[in-house]
Amino acid sequence: MTRAGSPAGSAARMAGAAALALFATLFASPAAAVQEKVDQCFACHNRLGGKLGAPAKEHIGSVHREAGVACVTCHGGNPSLPTEEGMDRRYGFRGKPATRDIPRFCARCHSDVAMMRQYNLRTDQLAEYRTSRHGRLLYERDDTRVAVCTSCHGRHEIRRKSDPESTVYRTNVPRMCGACHADPAYMKPYGIPTDQRENFENGIHGRILAGKIRRENPTLAPNCATCHGVHGAAPPGVGEVANVCGGCHAVVAGYFRESAHFAAAREIGEPKCITCHGNHSNRRPTIRVFSGSGPGECGFCHEKGSKPLQFAENVRDLLGALEEGVAEYQKELDAATAAGRNVDKLKEAHENARNRLTEVEPVFHTFSLDRVLPLIHESDSFLREARQEIGNFRDEQRQRRSVAVYSVTMLLLIAALLGVKLALLPKHPRAGDVNTG
Ligand code: HEC
Ligand code: HEC
Ligand code: HEC
Ligand code: HEC
Ligand code: HEC
Ligand code: HEC
Ligand code: HEC
Ligand code: HEC
Ligand code: HEC
Repeated sequence: MTRAGSPAGSAARMAGAAALALFATLFASPAAAVQEKVDQCFACHNRLGGKLGAPAKEHIGSVHREAGVACVTCHGGNPSLPTEEGMDRRYGFRGKPATRDIPRFCARCHSDVAMMRQYNLRTDQLAEYRTSRHGRLLYERDDTRVAVCTSCHGRHEIRRKSDPESTVYRTNVPRMCGACHADPAYMKPYGIPTDQRENFENGIHGRILAGKIRRENPTLAPNCATCHGVHGAAPPGVGEVANVCGGCHAVVAGYFRESAHFAAAREIGEPKCITCHGNHSNRRPTIRVFSGSGPGECGFCHEKGSKPLQFAENVRDLLGALEEGVAEYQKELDAATAAGRNVDKLKEAHENARNRLTEVEPVFHTFSLDRVLPLIHESDSFLREARQEIGNFRDEQRQRRSVAVYSVTMLLLIAALLGVKLALLPKHPRAGDVNTG
């Protein structure tokens, strides 16, 4: 099977290169006879209708036509004969390749390093494809329903990946993969879910990719191939998920590696990123995650009243209170700005409080109070600064009332948390503790 390097392989490659060269000479040379200049394959097929005419029409505008890869370069034959005789085996006509043979048919050129160097294209597509679930089913089980090169790239209309009309252009990939994976009838024999495209498109990444979230840069969002590999398409395994997600969410993944969850995921497979965030919708969990007991929610694994659940509920309450504070002071800030006051100090305190709060989310993934509490304290003390400033601007009476209510809430929560923290201090060692360092 190692075609590259075998005499037949290099002969085929040389023939391919020679055909390409011959074709280029025929059509570039002004001395060539008029009749030779006409690509009879194209001319005749372009006149034909239906599935015999479509290849010619689709070839116009393709990257291959642009590069001088003509009908004859892929199919063989004699392009100067105006009759069907040009399609005789004697001229090396190969006809239409069977589905099973398509990857090697394309790789005749695309695995040829010498030919591809000038175009600056990789030559590992076939090698990678063989490692994919698609390639393994094709070669090991002769299953021709899986994706081959043409299922993803098209046949005669193939375009560069950077061309927005290409089937593999960044934003077109979900639709392309979904043509099979979102078709329940087509996927029925395999018994795997067919909701990936729908979940992805409704999820955070899909919406960013489609440009639906204005403040996010669409080119930073993953598509199906980013996570599954472009040509080596297989589901990421248990150990790889943190790496796949961590490739972009490096900060979160770094903190997660410190957690008892990471140690547990290595031992029993869960919880990993997708346990809590889903594998395709990749949502940010709603507040329910802390109190619920459905799949992926804290209560699914931790018992009511257990220390992890107390951690969850207390962090949730603290974060909730801080978020409310930040939102409330944003309004005050806007009002003070509109009133033409000097808001420098207020602005700084507010920004600091908000930034600390944003930092909590990644640090939260340590699932450790020791790491989370300091940030919460800091955010709270900046909020207190902000509050003091506002006190200078606003009606004293009203301010004092809300500050009092807020401070009492905060103090109660922190007291409760410290209680939990004391309770969490290890009394006896557990397996998780040994592995976290
Ligand atoms: C005079 C018209 C004509 C010319 C010239 C012509 N073809 Fe065809 N081609 C046809 C017709 C008609 C068919 C369908 C009948 C058949 O398969 O023989 C066909 C079939 C094909 C098929 C499908 C074969 C299969 O296995 O299903 C391919 C591929 C093809 N042509 C490529 C070429 C190439 C490459 C050339 C030039 C070297 C060429 N044709 C020249 C008319 C033409
Ligand atoms: C980059 C290589 C490539 C080039 C260039 C190319 N073809 Fe094809 N062609 C294929 C492959 C691969 C298939 C088989 C696709 C499949 O079965 O899904 C095919 C199939 C065909 C078929 C059979 C269509 C069918 O639906 O059964 C015809 C006819 C054909 N090609 C004609 C042409 C003509 C005419 C040209 C030039 C305008 C051309 N091809 C250029 C790769 C190529
Ligand atoms: C499961 C779908 C799929 C299959 C099967 C597939 N490709 Fe691709 N291919 C893609 C996607 C998606 C991209 C775009 C990657 C990107 O944007 O970086 C791509 C990119 C390419 C490129 C551009 C250079 C590169 O590697 O990024 C070439 C050339 C290519 N594919 C050839 C092939 C060949 C040859 C085969 C068969 C051996 C094949 N592809 C099979 C999906 C597929
Ligand atoms: C005869 C040689 C040859 C064959 C066979 C061939 N290609 Fe190509 N292909 C090329 C060349 C040359 C280019 C580079 C064009 C350029 O970059 O200007 C190219 C470009 C491409 C690109 C665009 C890469 C990019 O820049 O994103 C894709 C995708 C592609 N081919 C897929 C295929 C597929 C799929 C098949 C099989 C159906 C195939 N090719 C068969 C020669 C070939
Ligand atoms: C021509 C149809 C087709 C297209 C297009 C296609 N696939 Fe597949 N894919 C299949 C089939 C059939 C399977 C086999 C199901 C199985 O693994 O049992 C499969 C398997 C997979 C698997 C392994 C699933 C598992 O758990 O076993 C992944 C992952 C996958 N495809 C991803 C992709 C991605 C990503 C794309 C687009 C870049 C894509 N596929 C395009 C048909 C397709
Ligand atoms: C953010 C990364 C990511 C993106 C984007 C992504 N996937 Fe997945 N996909 C995963 C993970 C993780 C799994 C689960 C693997 C596991 O359980 O080990 C998975 C599983 C799958 C499976 C196996 C069956 C299943 O649902 O569990 C298929 C098929 C699949 N994905 C196809 C797709 C398709 C099609 C797209 C684009 C619409 C896509 N994926 C986008 C990460 C991703
Ligand atoms: C190609 C890069 C990339 C990969 C890979 C990736 N993401 Fe993302 N993700 C982003 C970007 C960009 C955003 C939006 C900015 C942000 O919130 O960080 C985002 C946002 C998120 C969000 C926040 C949602 C919200 O509403 O705030 C979650 C949760 C998420 N991703 C989880 C995951 C998981 C789980 C994986 C692995 C299965 C993953 N991501 C893989 C780029 C990626
Ligand atoms: C045990 C459940 C759980 C696990 C495991 C988990 N997360 Fe989270 N993640 C959450 C919760 C809950 C939030 C929301 C926290 C909040 O509101 O402060 C969140 C928030 C996020 C966010 C949005 C916050 C931001 O900074 O934009 C991203 C991105 C994210 N997680 C990525 C990941 C990645 C990547 C992994 C794996 C390395 C992972 N998560 C593992 C529960 C989890
Ligand atoms: C899929 C199951 C699962 C889910 C879902 C889950 N955990 Fe855990 N969690 C574990 C396992 C396993 C451990 C390690 C063993 C242990 O300490 O109980 C752990 C440990 C912890 C610890 C460390 C306890 C200690 O004593 O150091 C905390 C805190 C924690 N989880 C909080 C959470 C929170 C908060 C959520 C929801 C956002 C959550 N967990 C969701 C399985 C899960």
